[in-house]
Amino acid sequence: TVIAVDAEQILDSRGWPTLQVSLTLHDGTTVVASTPAGASTGAFEAAEVRDGGHSFQGRGVHKAVAAVTGEISELLMSTPWTSITEIDDALRELDGIPNLSRLGANSTVAVSMAAARGLAYATGFPLYRWISAVTGSTALLPVPHFNVLNGGAHAANELDFQEFMLAPIGAANEEHAIQAGSEIYHVLANKVNSAYGGVGLGDEGGFAPPISHPSEALDLLTDAILAAGYTTDQVKIAIDSAANGFYRGDGVYRLGGKDLNRQQLADYYVQLASDYPLWSIEDGFAEDDHQGWGILFDRISDKVQIVGDDLYVTDARRIQSGADNGYSNAALIKLNQIGTVSQTFDAIAVARQNSMRCMISHRSGETGDDFIADLAVGTGVGQIKAGAPARGERVVKYNRLMRIEKQEPTLRYGLE
Ligand code: PGA
Ligand code: ZN
Repeated sequence: TVIAVDAEQILDSRGWPTLQVSLTLHDGTTVVASTPAGASTGAFEAAEVRDGGHSFQGRGVHKAVAAVTGEISELLMSTPWTSITEIDDALRELDGIPNLSRLGANSTVAVSMAAARGLAYATGFPLYRWISAVTGSTALLPVPHFNVLNGGAHAANELDFQEFMLAPIGAANEEHAIQAGSEIYHVLANKVNSAYGGVGLGDEGGFAPPISHPSEALDLLTDAILAAGYTTDQVKIAIDSAANGFYRGDGVYRLGGKDLNRQQLADYYVQLASDYPLWSIEDGFAEDDHQGWGILFDRISDKVQIVGDDLYVTDARRIQSGADNGYSNAALIKLNQIGTVSQTFDAIAVARQNSMRCMISHRSGETGDDFIADLAVGTGVGQIKAGAPARGERVVKYNRLMRIEKQEPTLRYGLE
């Protein structure tokens, strides 16, 4: 039973407004959750409600706060709730619009996450255990994907691909995986700073050196992995091209100042996958270029994980269609793309039914909320990306994973 609902405007990691929601339960306990925000958002994501006008360049969230403290508060306090599906369905019905544009997915997602925490609290189990029970999944400690070189919409350099990530797939456990990420990150810092001088950071805490070719980034990463004393079997590389950002339309992509057609871009990915320890490619083609996705899938889905992010926006129906049409063998999972916890569970379930892997993901604009760490462990998908192994809003997720491992040392670490 919820006896009080509160919400407030806070700042996210980019310094833009977002929401924090707290629910007070029958015994006086308060559960809190906050909403992240993307920069390279997919066109089909659930809609945020922002204030417009002058303050915060229109990005204030007082309207969304009012939706939580008004209509949503009334709904939550109207009846005792027993399941997250019930709550999420009621939120959707209250909104009345499929993309949640009336109340705002930025309102519903924090409410739904806090409600999940409340329901977990009522069972006496930690959040990841509750998630594992509700979704019928085997809990598993995920392979962290550390985004250590940034480009695209997250950085001011000329690098077109958005994210270059370290994936310690061969680590013995979560703690060692995170140690590897940290050690390589610091070796990389020295390499980047001595090659390019004082280098800025991207939004997720990765370095943003003045490079423009993906191969330069992959060389830097491979060198750093080896220089830190790891092998490329222990630590592999994943990229998120976020190809919406360099798509020109009509099957043409502008990469490093050159136009490539779909075949040429697919050839390029195949070449990178043979030259480097590249294990996963996310959003290699634009969200509406289904032909491109099909080409890449046919070319390398037997060797490389192909992840749909903007393509699927954590929507079970879109994931099903991707499976039916052969677009990818994995889906990225972001709570605020779909707006509620139970629909996020649905997206993971549909991916699983189709033998697709899932990677749980943060957003480039984050908060101190560590919900996604429990989400990754509880659903047992085996993969998470939460940015660099540095900066408070990123490391709270990784630190939570290590805490869970300490509390339950028998949990297995690795890919699903
Ligand atoms: P975003 O980036 O949070 O800015 O959308 C993350 C991603 O594209 O995976
Ligand atoms: Zn992405």
